[in-house]
Amino acid sequence: MERIDIQTDVNKFDGLKNQTEFIDFFRNKNMMDTKKYLIETWGCQMNEHDSENLSGMFDLMGFIKTDDREQADVIVFNTCAVREKAEMKVFGNLGHLKNLKQRRTDLKIILTGCMPEEEAIVDKIKKKYGFLNLVIGTHSYHKFPKLLKESYTQEATTFDVDNKEDIVVENLPANRDYDVKAFVNIMHGCNNFCTYCIVPHTRGRERSRLPEDIINEIENLVEKGVKEVTLLGQNVNSYGKTEAFGIDFSDLLEMVNAIEGLKRIRFMTSHPKDMSFKLIDAINNLDKVCEFLHLPVQAGSNDLLKRMNRGYTVEDYLEKIKYAKEKIKDIAISTDIIIGFPGETEEDVDHLIELFETVKFDNAFTFIYSKRKGTPAYEYKDHIDKKIKSNRFNRLLEASNRIAYENSKKYMNESVEVLVEGPSKNDKNILTGKTRHFKTINFEGDEELIGELVKVKVTDYNSFSLSGTFEELI
Ligand code: SAH
Ligand code: SF4
Ligand code: F3S
Repeated sequence: MERIDIQTDVNKFDGLKNQTEFIDFFRNKNMMDTKKYLIETWGCQMNEHDSENLSGMFDLMGFIKTDDREQADVIVFNTCAVREKAEMKVFGNLGHLKNLKQRRTDLKIILTGCMPEEEAIVDKIKKKYGFLNLVIGTHSYHKFPKLLKESYTQEATTFDVDNKEDIVVENLPANRDYDVKAFVNIMHGCNNFCTYCIVPHTRGRERSRLPEDIINEIENLVEKGVKEVTLLGQNVNSYGKTEAFGIDFSDLLEMVNAIEGLKRIRFMTSHPKDMSFKLIDAINNLDKVCEFLHLPVQAGSNDLLKRMNRGYTVEDYLEKIKYAKEKIKDIAISTDIIIGFPGETEEDVDHLIELFETVKFDNAFTFIYSKRKGTPAYEYKDHIDKKIKSNRFNRLLEASNRIAYENSKKYMNESVEVLVEGPSKNDKNILTGKTRHFKTINFEGDEELIGELVKVKVTDYNSFSLSGTFEELI
């Protein structure tokens, strides 16, 4: 495994060591012609954060951001491969870009993220999407400026995809989406190979960032006004294991908790098989770590869990939940579920709903199983009919929403801590933010409160959000 710090290994960054060269290359002498870029992001927080890095690099190369496809000189699709539906959507959108490009031949189109890490997708692109200028995988972002420049000097699509080298790149520029909260990768890749999942194939093997690099990044963010960080990894509970740092995830949380000026810490995702009691104790003992746990269970019966290769039983899962609930007052718990995994029976769904009744999840992200080529479950025999999957999905959704609604009730008339993120999407006069329990809450308030931690009294609720009235600054 290789670590590259683009500030000290400028040759490997092969890009912005000579920033003015890039600016001169991409910008016509006339300032009015400054090039514009647009990034559209699908997928998880990892992708969102990669887009922040790409955006940071565009800025350094003298580009400016736009939200309008018609205005953009370069359009980037940062894609997700986890389910087929997301991929179909991307191909649909590429159809639209093809039309755009017929009108504007100078438009550059870039496909990146997890889709280009699949061989079948690359083949399809080569056959049908020759109008793309650049296709880059998730391991090549440090080469982005150089690759972009190349795509301006050649007709054919530039590919940098089958690059499975395991590297950790530090100090890529980032243009962050929010001022008050930030995503911080603590590790990359995944070693778990759940039988349904494409992620280990698109993101490579598990590799952790050095603790000092993570702490430095967070300290810099806090200096710029960030109050909340979300530590990201496909399985944060195995942080540092491959590298044998001698520091586990709980220790890392303790180090992050000590950063002055930082107010809140979140993390995702926790894998139940690697979640230790020590971690639960750490959540309880460390004041900045929010009382919220996203712990994807995926299924409610041991047979399914086994065939998913999840590495725990329902009993193991419940034991950890029980400990967490005993230790941490009012902990909120959310989960991910796959419905319609090959071989799933009606009884499996009954067991899953029983599990929901026991755990009382505050939120559940339920996905209908999607066949992913190259994964073991793709080859399983007993795939479930689409209509049955959809009926089971609706059954679970009903239970999940009902339980979440019951959970929300307990916040009624309570005073909750909120980090104010900005005006609400639907109504500019309303502010929105998140509670420590990761509930969205809306309330009326002055826009000066944006970026502040405040107390809000809850006056109404539904399954997934709350509303309230502003009480005071914290
Ligand atoms: N690393 C995280 C999850 C990453 S993918 C974890 O292990 O929890 C996010 C979610 O997508 C998964 O939790 C799973 O519920 C869902 N998912 C992954 N592969 C899928 C597939 N083939 N079909 C449907 N849902 C899938
Ligand atoms: Fe996929 Fe499993 Fe890894 Fe999560 S832990 S990314 S579900 S293989
Ligand atoms: Fe994330 Fe989707 Fe890739 S969930 S890791 S963007 S396949």
